[in-house]
Amino acid sequence: MAVSRRLNTVSIDAMQQFDKIEALREQVAAWRAAGERIAFVPTMGNLHAGHFALVELARRHAQRVVTSVFVNPTQFGPNEDFSRYPRTPEADARGLVVAGCDLLFLPTVEQMYPFGAGHCVQVRVPGLTAELDGAARPGHFDGVATVVLRLFNMVEPDVAVFGRKDFQQLRVIQYMVRELSLPITILPAAIQREADGLALSSRNQYLSAEERAIAPQIHRTLLAMRSAWQQGQPLSAIEQDAVAHLDEAGFDVDYAQLRRSQDLATPQQGERDGLVALIAARLGRTRLIDNLEFDA
Ligand code: PAJ
Repeated sequence: MAVSRRLNTVSIDAMQQFDKIEALREQVAAWRAAGERIAFVPTMGNLHAGHFALVELARRHAQRVVTSVFVNPTQFGPNEDFSRYPRTPEADARGLVVAGCDLLFLPTVEQMYPFGAGHCVQVRVPGLTAELDGAARPGHFDGVATVVLRLFNMVEPDVAVFGRKDFQQLRVIQYMVRELSLPITILPAAIQREADGLALSSRNQYLSAEERAIAPQIHRTLLAMRSAWQQGQPLSAIEQDAVAHLDEAGFDVDYAQLRRSQDLATPQQGERDGLVALIAARLGRTRLIDNLEFDA
């Protein structure tokens, strides 16, 4: 029995759940035959308010929302947290019903990579993926593009929602969609933050109480980078100050940089509009990323 989304106690019967591509395709085809638009939200699960905001944005752009949960092995490096990545399927399903998701797609690794993850056809987006997170996590964006293209093929959505939290990922996906002429509109969604500025992330729960108290320094540093730029300080000084501040606070910094938001190129000193400050830094074993887009 389907239960109204407005109730506090929800039944996950209100949402369909499939792990087979065929079942997913059949349902999406039926919706499409009825003239409905399909929005898609790809995730790796352990869903929080940041993810649910993506589902809500998706709802406003289509009659039907499909969300996938798949912890994608090909985007994790050998020493990264693939095996310990938090998996919370029941809570994810409950939250998705409340957020207004119609279909939860939970493919298995065998469905996604029939010949094994080590033998898959790969997508490599050039240029953009060699820098920032691509430099810090070699192969990461190849894994992201590889799985997102597969998911797009399976779901065949009209629109797909990606968070600005993973800003470089958003740009990689937009590049791929344009370059491969995929008939999908990419909708970027705003970053959801805690009251103290920390961007919501599944990885925040790895933080100790002491690290959690330090973590909002990332957002504060982004704000400081913005005001320094607006005051006309030189790029290299802004970036050095940001690294020094984060270092001092106890982070191990991968990068703190100002880039042009459109193509992530390094801006000229006179350039005022369309910039983004990006930070990736580790606290203990936890790697956090965040960014701030701004104009003059
Ligand atoms: P995941 O980290 O689960 O994130 C899924 C989506 O949620 C991404 O588009 C991400 O940018 C967005 N998101 C996460 N935290 C957010 C926040 N605080 N505010 C706004 N949006 C937020 O990103 C991935 O999964 C994977 O790389 C994936 C695209 C699913 C491919 O495997």
